[in-house]
Amino acid sequence: MPRGIALTAALLAVLAAAGGAAPRASPPPAALPVGPAATPPMGWNSWNTFGCDIDEGKIRRAADGLVRSGMRDAGYRYVVVDDCWYRPQRDSAGNLLADPQRFPAGMAALGDYLHARGLKFGLYMSPNDETCAQQTGAYPGRTGSGDREARDARAFASWGVDYLKYDWCHGAGSPATARAAFTTMRDALAATGRPILYSINPNSNFPGAPGETASWCDIAHLSRTTEDIQPVWRTDRGNSHPMGVRDIIEVQSGLTDRARPGCWPDPDMLEVGVHDVNGYAGLTDDEARTHLSMWAMFAAPLIAGNDPARTSPAARDLLTDPEVIAVDQDPLGRAARRVTGGDHQVWVRPLQHGTAVALYNRGDAPARITTDLRTLGLPPGTYPTRDLWTGHRTSTTGPLSTDLPPHATTLLRLGRQ
Ligand code: GAL
Repeated sequence: MPRGIALTAALLAVLAAAGGAAPRASPPPAALPVGPAATPPMGWNSWNTFGCDIDEGKIRRAADGLVRSGMRDAGYRYVVVDDCWYRPQRDSAGNLLADPQRFPAGMAALGDYLHARGLKFGLYMSPNDETCAQQTGAYPGRTGSGDREARDARAFASWGVDYLKYDWCHGAGSPATARAAFTTMRDALAATGRPILYSINPNSNFPGAPGETASWCDIAHLSRTTEDIQPVWRTDRGNSHPMGVRDIIEVQSGLTDRARPGCWPDPDMLEVGVHDVNGYAGLTDDEARTHLSMWAMFAAPLIAGNDPARTSPAARDLLTDPEVIAVDQDPLGRAARRVTGGDHQVWVRPLQHGTAVALYNRGDAPARITTDLRTLGLPPGTYPTRDLWTGHRTSTTGPLSTDLPPHATTLLRLGRQ
């Protein structure tokens, strides 16, 4: 986008923050090119399994695991190195550097390693003076990109970065300052000329944080809608840390109409195959299938959080299911809407060819969930149906019904004849 528009947007944001009057004829928000986000990105991120404890050996082994397990070929291409990869201090010229103990070969070498294996390279940083781990004291230093966006964006591009996760994570700020800071990095990335997928987390804990209430489609390809996911079914804390799969489905259910090519509301990364982390045992297989089914219905980014070098065949099979991935990646790019709420939910997602339907048992008891074409908003007809997890085929002229254990989901694909 032209630089002038960005500066104007940033200025408006600052004026709004300061309570100043904005000029009457303000330009419309600039559109972010769809770029590399025509469909929701798929990949892997270090945070859910390794947290802050990362180094280049672990990332390379994870990358090799993605290749060996078939996850790369199923679509998981981005390898995103989350927090704690950088040297705690910048150099005297202000450059951001790799931590020499953790990443002695440097970030460009890591990018080369990933690209040579048909993978893409993602990195984490923050718009304020500290990253999230620095803010919480889990990692030393102050290396955030605030006021150094252009320099950092150039460094990312020179290292071959394809994806930036940019995380507000600060107790101070306002919706306007957050918008301005995220816009500044958007424009710094664009100025490098390298297509870099831009994933922001504006959902932080400063007073008045816009979080999931705001749309960020003019600024970023992905915007986080919730606090951090954990490998647990529910915590019942609303949209606050820590969150389980069921909690996130509830938050995301009100936001699905925002999804479109180039702009995907992000309900956080996958916990499938993540066990014994942060005191949580992990999801059951039914819960893991619900997690994947609903993320596919949401058109959510599929960023795996397991350890691909050690993942079980069962978790790999869930993560790489081609028909579930095809729902997530459907080129129409429209997310599902909920047509029946409560504990026995029904969701419908229009696809380029056909319709996806999820029957989701949110409750803690086994349940029969029943729906019909009219409730789904589908015209009368005969619809071949396929259960995407079992492969079972049948057809319907009206009713659909499934018996589900607690926390389980049946994911169907319907086509009309
Ligand atoms: C959080 C973010 C997590 C992870 C973490 C790193 O704010 O939501 O996904 O990136 O920071 O410190």
